[in-house]
Amino acid sequence: MKEPSRLAVLGAGHVGPVIARLAIKAGYPVAIATSGDPEEIALITELIIPGAQPRWASDAVADADIVVLAIPLHRFGDIDPAPLDGKLVVDAMNYWPASDGVLEPFEGRGSTEVVAQQLAGSAVVKALNHIGYHELEDRARPAAAPDRRAAGVAGDDPAAVAMIADLVDRIGYDPVRLESLRAGRVLQPGGPVFGVVLTQPEFERAVRQDARSLA
Ligand SMILES: NC(=O)c1ccc[n+]([C@@H]2O[C@H](COP(=O)([O-])OP(=O)(O)OC[C@H]3O[C@@H](n4cnc5c(N)ncnc54)[C@H](OP(=O)(O)O)[C@@H]3O)[C@@H](O)[C@H]2O)c1
Repeated sequence: MKEPSRLAVLGAGHVGPVIARLAIKAGYPVAIATSGDPEEIALITELIIPGAQPRWASDAVADADIVVLAIPLHRFGDIDPAPLDGKLVVDAMNYWPASDGVLEPFEGRGSTEVVAQQLAGSAVVKALNHIGYHELEDRARPAAAPDRRAAGVAGDDPAAVAMIADLVDRIGYDPVRLESLRAGRVLQPGGPVFGVVLTQPEFERAVRQDARSLA
C-alpha cells in the first residue's frame, strides 16, 4: 500500500474497536470517535486499540479518506452529512427494531440504501455489518489461509467497492462484491449470510440461492 487510506471509525462500542484493531494491523492509520469528548475514550483506546487515535468525530472525519459508521442506526440521524461529502463511507450498521425502535424510513427497505440517500455527497458501501464482532476478529486470516472466510461488499460505485474490497481483503477476509446497494440487502439481518461466517464458495452459493428464491 503506497499511501494508506486514513480511516475514521465512528463508534467505540462493540464492533468499532474490532474494525479499528484489524485496520491498524493491516497498516491503516485509524482515528476513532464517539459522539463525545475523545478524552473519555483515551485510556480505553490506548488499552484495547493501541495505535488508534481518539479524536472528536468532526476532526476524525475531516482528516479521513474512509469513514466507517459503527454506531447504532437509531443514532444515525445525529450525523451531519455535510462533512462526509466526498468521503468514502462504509456502512457497518444494521437495522434492529428490537434495539433501534421502529424507524419508519428503514422499514422494509435496504438500510444502506436509506443511509446513502441521506449521505448523497458520499460514496456509500455496505460492508463489515454481517459478522458478529467477536467472530470478525477471531476469523480474520491472511490471504490464502485455507480456512479464510468471506465478507460481502456492496455498493453502487465500483471504484468505492473496489477500495473497500481491498480493505476487507487486507483485514483478513475474501471480499465478495455485490453489484449494488440493493443487492447488498442479502447482507442484512434475515439475509442468507447474516450472522454466519462462510467460505467464499459457501457465501456465493448462499447469495445465489437467495437471489433465486426471490426471483
Ligand atoms: N455488535 C456487533 O457484533 C456488530 C457487528 C457488525 C455490525 N454491527 C452494527 O454496528 C452498529 C454498532 O453496533 P455496536 O454493537 O458496536 O453498538 P454499541 O456497542 O452500542 O456502540 C455504539 C457506539 O457508537 C457511538 N456513537 C453513537 N452515536 C454516535 C455519533 N453520532 N458519532 C460517533 N459515535 C457515536 C457510541 O458512543 P456514544 O454513545 O458515547 O457517542 C458507542 O461507542 C449497529 O448498527 C450494529 O448492528 C454490530
